[in-house]
Amino acid sequence: MKIGIILGTRPEIIKMSPIIRYCEKLSIPFFILHTGQHYSYEMDSLFFKQLMLPNPTFNLNIGSGSHAVQTAKILIGVEEIISREHPSIVLVQGDTNTVLGGALAAVKLHIPIGHIEAGLRSNDRTMPEEINRIVTDHLSNYLFTPTICAQNNLISEGIQKDKIFSVGNTIVDSVNYNLSIANSQYSQMNIYSLSPKQYVLVTLHRAENVDSVSRLKKIFQGLTSIINDYNYPVILPVHPRTKRMIEQEKISFGNILLINPVGYLEFLNLEFNAKIILTDSGGVQEEACILGVPCVTIRENTERPETIEVGSNILAGTEPDSIIRCFCAMLEKKYEWSNPYGDGKAGERIVECLKTKLL
Ligand code: UD1
Ligand code: UDP
Repeated sequence: MKIGIILGTRPEIIKMSPIIRYCEKLSIPFFILHTGQHYSYEMDSLFFKQLMLPNPTFNLNIGSGSHAVQTAKILIGVEEIISREHPSIVLVQGDTNTVLGGALAAVKLHIPIGHIEAGLRSNDRTMPEEINRIVTDHLSNYLFTPTICAQNNLISEGIQKDKIFSVGNTIVDSVNYNLSIANSQYSQMNIYSLSPKQYVLVTLHRAENVDSVSRLKKIFQGLTSIINDYNYPVILPVHPRTKRMIEQEKISFGNILLINPVGYLEFLNLEFNAKIILTDSGGVQEEACILGVPCVTIRENTERPETIEVGSNILAGTEPDSIIRCFCAMLEKKYEWSNPYGDGKAGERIVECLKTKLL
């Protein structure tokens, strides 16, 4: 058995890391094919370094571009490598263009596909990620679902039950593995003059939010009220997509503390100590829930409905009033929920499943 691990962005590196580590532990042959969708040091190499992952075996260096250009370059590059390397299976994780391109290249070469984090649905087809999820799920041979809800989504779309494996989310494995290192060695409190549970952590990068000047301005208006009216400092590690927009359009960010994207260990520490997290990220909604930190999601919908159901998360949309209302609603929220994403052994389960099926 040889596993082809395809990844390309920050969250894929983080969520694939438990699988890579377990393959190394069992000496299972694998290669890492990095598409290069993310390439800036703080969105890419920093994670390989911090998570102590082996360097990618191949890097396509496809970089940024429109959806068509990016996906097409991934298709061409992945086809070339996997037709030469003959993996027994390729693994893709999540919902990025890397996932779509990787899966499409593999299926045409009759190479089996394992989709990690299968079955998520926002039911919003204007999101590029939703299209990537649906197509990838329907091309895949092994669908590794994080929750019962994800499993049910697949069944309701007619996917055969024997292709679905309920394993939990590898983000729990990652949090468990890294949290104590983050808190003991990577505290950010003094660096940014923050006190535990006395500040708000924000991330923003979703295309529908940050590619629109008016939406981004409205979100910043909401964040500014949190600082001025509620007296909480707001820290925002800025995704390069958002940074580009702020600079190009000269968007005023007032006294929001904008910092460069940080490594996983720094970010876990910022999440762990936050009073509330405001975000449009998928992975951050999950981590807030796992870490027991209330979350306000700056979107109209979420493909992580279990976070809403357990009470860790609330949908605010992007209007300043609604952001403030939801912030206040979550301010005194007690950590009484249990984590719906499993026991932190998803990575092991995925590799053990592949061993049984493919060896
Ligand atoms: C991508 C994924 C999104 C995921 C996110 C994780 C798609 C369609 N979107 O969005 O689902 O949540 O990654 O962060 O696959 N840029 C840099 N350096 C980098 C990467 C990007 O400067 O290393 C800038 C470029 O200006 C680029 C822009 O960010 O045009 C957007 O990058 P791209 O990979 O297209 O999408 P993301 O917004 O990162
Ligand atoms: N993250 C990080 N540094 C940051 C911001 C986020 O390490 O400055 C991590 C975060 O802990 C989470 C992941 O990046 O695991 C989420 O990635 P992102 O929000 O880019 O993508 P999404 O999950 O929305 O696809």
